[in-house]
Amino acid sequence: MIYAALKTVHVLSIIVWIGGMAFAHFFLRPTLAQLEPAVRLRLMHDVLGRFFQAVLVASLATLASGVWMIGRVAKQVVQSGGKFEMPLAWTVMAVLGVAMVAIFMHIRFALYKRLGRAVAGSDWAAGAAALAQIRTWVSVNLGLGVVILLVTLLRWTA
Ligand code: HEM
Repeated sequence: MIYAALKTVHVLSIIVWIGGMAFAHFFLRPTLAQLEPAVRLRLMHDVLGRFFQAVLVASLATLASGVWMIGRVAKQVVQSGGKFEMPLAWTVMAVLGVAMVAIFMHIRFALYKRLGRAVAGSDWAAGAAALAQIRTWVSVNLGLGVVILLVTLLRWTA
């Protein structure tokens, strides 16, 4: 029961995180490209601010539920006298998942702050540069997320 609840939290968090990145990258950003920089950057700053709040919670929930599930399985195996060996797909997921969380923290606490300072000072060139960097790192995270999903759901490493 606890395991199923952890997995539900894990997958729901990932849906919010990956789904939000796909929406922002493929649908929102191209549509806003036609707006004036001042309007576009203010709007993106506000939208991303709300989204990143949710991703902060989702990314920590993903990490915590993932580590917790591994801990539960390891404990059960050891208690029943076996030796725990992590499946390769889980190792790939954990390593790439931690990388995704680290990249998100860089986006949220370095690049997004830079965007905020540029918007506050009406420095649209600096704002556009910060937003371009956010876009690059979001696409890296989206790519990593899709790789994890393929490895996990298609059992590519089994
Ligand atoms: C942050 C580190 C992460 C750790 C430690 C971790 C660990 C785990 C564990 C232990 C499971 C349970 C597997 C099972 O019961 O078969 C799981 C399930 C899953 N994880 Fe992760 N995970 C992490 C991040 C991610 C990320 C970033 C994604 C997607 C982008 C992801 C996608 C999934 C999916 C889709 C499942 C369900 C798999 C299934 O039921 O077949 N995980 N994760």
